[in-house]
Amino acid sequence: SSYTAVIPAAGIGARMQAYKPKQYLKIQKKTLLEHSVNAFTNHPLIEHIIVVVHPDDETARTILTKDVHIVVGGEERCDSVLAGVNYAHEQLQSEWVLVHDAARPGINSGLISKLIDNVKCSTGGILALPLVDTVKQISPTASAEHSNTPRVDKTLDREKIWSAQTPQMFKTAALQQALQFAIQHSLSITDEASAMEAMGTEVLLVEGHPMNFKVTKPEDLQLAEYYLAQSQL
Ligand code: C5P
Repeated sequence: SSYTAVIPAAGIGARMQAYKPKQYLKIQKKTLLEHSVNAFTNHPLIEHIIVVVHPDDETARTILTKDVHIVVGGEERCDSVLAGVNYAHEQLQSEWVLVHDAARPGINSGLISKLIDNVKCSTGGILALPLVDTVKQISPTASAEHSNTPRVDKTLDREKIWSAQTPQMFKTAALQQALQFAIQHSLSITDEASAMEAMGTEVLLVEGHPMNFKVTKPEDLQLAEYYLAQSQL
């Protein structure tokens, strides 16, 4: 089997309040994007790496090594991922793709192997984490007396809820079709698995690790540094 990593990095990181997109913020002198890419470069089963960038991006080409394929992304995350998946299918003829957020620098070889080992004989799957907190669904209607504060609609069964991480690993052709379908039908999808689910495909959940969290807010950088230092001990 052949495996290609597709790393969407075409977001503008609006929630990060930084002067540059979050994938270019640095921990230990390297950008988050480089940390994410390196985990795949160092993995013996990953044949190709595709990084999907914003059309105005001039940084990716200067920091990534020449063997990384660079593809231009789109408006939404799913458009960017589809651009990468199209390239993996048409240019590289890769059987499998592992889609991984540039903003998850905590990924490592062991987690990539765990995903591949558990998923390679199925239709696909993702790294994910069981929830530790009790989770509340918020009410669509506001409280009469406290209209500016959200209120609980109901408590969900925590035992039945995992949060999705990446990589998300699927057959390249199947993911390409699923993403095309989702985009054509304007489905609001926030990860690749949702597109596969919409096609009725089974998606396996493989337990990931908290260190593989998505850097989203300014304070997340320090936590990413901490995990990286821990992993080097
Ligand atoms: O915004 P969010 O945190 O969900 O972004 C997850 C990943 O998707 C980031 O690595 C971001 O750069 C990427 N992305 C993209 N194209 C977009 C939007 C987000 O590649 N249009």
